[in-house]
Order: sequence, then structure tokens, then C-alpha cells
Amino acid sequence: MNTNFHVLSRRRFLVAAAGVAVSTSMRPAWATGIDEHRIKVAPGHALLKSGDGPQTAVWTYDGTIPGPTLRLRQGDPARIIVENGLDEETTVHWHGIRLPNAMDGVPGLTQPPIKPGENFVYEFTPPDAGTFWYHPHADSLVQLGRGLAGALIVEETEPVAVDRDLMWLLQDWRLAADGKIAAGFGSAMDAAMSGRVGNVVTLNGSTPADVSVKAGERIRLRLANASLARMMALRFEGHRPVVVAIDGQPCDPHEPEGGRLVLAPAMRIDVVLDMQGDPGSRHAVTDDFYDGLAYTLTTLAYDNAPPLRTHPLDAPVGLPRNPLPEPDLVRAERQELVLQGGMMGGGKLAGVGGMMGMATPGMNGTAAWAIDGMSMTGDGHAGMAPQFTLKRGATCHLTMRNETAWWHPMHVHGFSMLVLSRNGSPVLHRQWQDTVLLAPKDTIECAFVADNPGDWMLHCHVADHQMAGLMTVFRVN
Ligand code: C2O
Ligand code: CU
Ligand code: CU
Repeated sequence: MNTNFHVLSRRRFLVAAAGVAVSTSMRPAWATGIDEHRIKVAPGHALLKSGDGPQTAVWTYDGTIPGPTLRLRQGDPARIIVENGLDEETTVHWHGIRLPNAMDGVPGLTQPPIKPGENFVYEFTPPDAGTFWYHPHADSLVQLGRGLAGALIVEETEPVAVDRDLMWLLQDWRLAADGKIAAGFGSAMDAAMSGRVGNVVTLNGSTPADVSVKAGERIRLRLANASLARMMALRFEGHRPVVVAIDGQPCDPHEPEGGRLVLAPAMRIDVVLDMQGDPGSRHAVTDDFYDGLAYTLTTLAYDNAPPLRTHPLDAPVGLPRNPLPEPDLVRAERQELVLQGGMMGGGKLAGVGGMMGMATPGMNGTAAWAIDGMSMTGDGHAGMAPQFTLKRGATCHLTMRNETAWWHPMHVHGFSMLVLSRNGSPVLHRQWQDTVLLAPKDTIECAFVADNPGDWMLHCHVADHQMAGLMTVFRVN
């Protein structure tokens, strides 16, 4: 991995002194401190497979795969200056952050794309602490598939009682035998089926055989799936992870069903792991989402030191809740979205009617999917008419019905949704998500308060599905 470019400026400019001339007019006058960062988007190289395999030509944030982990503080204004060193337009989307629409990074819809050689200044104050991530929203399939992704951690105002806080950003790559990223982005087969699932999964940019841990320590492990299309289901052999947050939002602490953490593209899960293994012992972390294709992601390797403590910490594992507005289910506005299309048994494409015909050359082919009979393709662009409009402050009760034979992690920009039910059964643990995974034929009900005005995207986060029509826009005014 190329680390000499890994210089992420983390400067806290204190401009409290009265009368200080402020160089940019975008800085709010009342600001007392702006947490400023710079990120450059540029081609680079990475050693993805551990060992001495060939380097892979990739696209990077600040020269590294994944991009630098941005750490912001809950409630503190942040400024992130993004410089585009690619030969094509890009934007950055701050996935899961509830921010002003103009900072959401959707080209055409919320901002003009950042042209090669140009900058864009993102400014927002993260209201929620938790695990988020950032990625491009232009030429998404290619830009994400070439490696553009990074973790964004918003720190709690009071630190959480753990011994270590680890971030695992997982990325899936389709590599050819020579170590290059395989060509063929946007193939019709991938688009109409499971998406571009690859053949190498990296953890923070490489394939580490071991992750070293200490007996007795308590780890907060933040998992993020930054893959184009690969679903994951992680198991921690010999351990009992407790889920404390989903998509950045704290939930009631619970052990996952069957000990399996299902992590679809764009989802994040924070777990608390009490390391109760013996000094010197080794425990595999496996992903068995796809039948018959289980593999070992890495191995937890205990060092030989005696346990840090004899009993697990007795501090509670629950995280403080974020200030999310509570949906008013009685007066809610009901909306339903039906997911349609994709390949069915027998290799035929399910009927996708009423195309909006927004595909333009270079925008990744034709529609294979639709929402309520409409196919919006691509990444977001000017002129996307909203599918529905919500009054500001109203609760939206949203039902999503998956009529297809495929899995879809459905993602909403700008909001976190309280997940109410799956196939008629209540979803427990008071979980709020920005990305909800629908299995084939699933129906999900969720709710959120439409407190943030603007035109917002809602799409499947399997990049090929989004590009091929599984996307819509709604408006809050
Ligand atoms: Cu994480 Cu519209 O995306
Ligand atoms: Cu998003
Ligand atoms: Cu999908």
C-alpha cells in the first residue's frame, strides 16, 4: 500500500477571537471551531492481496485503500475540501449522515459534479454519533469498484467504555489473474442478477491473515461493507458479538440471530466483543452468506499475555441514542414502493414497464429494474422528478415490497428510518437504518420524520442495480 500520500490534514481552526477575518464566506459567523479536512481523489496503486502479489491500479482518496478514516465529532461543524484528481467527474456522498441537502453529493440533484482539477467544499455538522462512510456518487459502479470508499466515524461527546475501537472497512474486488481490476463494469448479466460480486475481499485494504487481540479486552468493532454488490454474513468463531448499533444508529444491544452478522453493501454494524478466548488461541472470522462459498475473512489471534481482566468489563454495552425525531405513526403519510425486474427463473427478464428512459450514452446501458414501474438509471442527475412529496415535519410510513427474486439493500439519503416490521412480524431492538436489506419477496415497513427539506435519493445499494433502474427520488418541502 502506498502510504506516503497518507497525509490527512486534521486541523482544528479556532476562530473564536472576535474580529478575525475569515477567508471563506461559507463559514458561519457563529462558528467557534471548524474541523477542517482535505481529501484528494486520484489514481494510485495498492497491494490488495497480502504477500508479494502484484500491485493493483486503483482510484484512491489520499493515495490509500480504503481512504483515510475521517473522525468528526457529534455536533461540531466540519469542513471537508475534496479535490478531484481523476480524469472524470466525481462527487462525495457522506453515507448515512443527516446533513443539508446541498451537501449530499448527488450530481445534478444536489450539486454540480466536481470536474477534473476542481474542488468542492462540503460543510455540515453531524447530528448523530456513529459509524458512517463516504464514497463517490458519480460513475458509481466504476468509481466504487476501483476502490473509492472510506470510513467516517462521528465520535460520541462522551467516550464509550471499551479498551479498543476498531474499524473494519470491507471491500470486494473482481481481480483478473494479473492482479488488475477486471474489465466489464456494467455487464448486463451482473446488472440483472446479483450485481458485480468479486473474488477478493479486503479488510482495510488488504487480506490480513491475522488480527491480533488480547485476552480479556473489550473491543468495539465497527464493520462496514463498502462492496459494490457482495452481501456478507460474518461469524466470529468462539465469540458472541453483541450488536450495539446498525447503520451508525444505536439499537438495543442484542446478539444476532444464529450468531451471524448480515451485512449488505453500504450497511454498518457496531458490535461489542469481549475477548474471552485463551491467550495464544486462534479463532476464524468467516463469511458464509452465499451457500457453498464460505471463506475465512481473517483470524483473531490472541497474544500470549495473561488476560487483562478475569471477568468481562461490567460497564453496560449500550450506546447513547442519537437525537432522532420520533415518528408519529398515527398521523403518518403512507407511501409504498414496489421493487420490480431482474432475471427470473428460465433466464428471462421480468417485465420492466414504463421506463423513464433516462439512460444516456455512458450511463451504463439499459434498465433491468424498476420501482413502481419507473426506471431511473445512473447516479443521479438533473431533472429527476420526485416520485412522491412529503410535507416537512410529517411522518412517512414507508412500505417496500420486493417482487423480485433478488436481494436488495435499499438505501435512503438524508434520513434514518425506524424499521417497524419485516413480512408482518415486528422488528425488535428499536433499530434505525439508512440501508434496509430486503430478501427476495420481502416486505418491509419503516417510518421516519421528513424533517429535512430537499430532493433525496432512495435506491438499491448494489451499484449495478442502482445504475440499471432500482432508484427513485422523493421530495420534502
Ligand atoms: Cu451510499 Cu446513494 O449512497
Ligand atoms: Cu447515502
Ligand atoms: Cu438491488
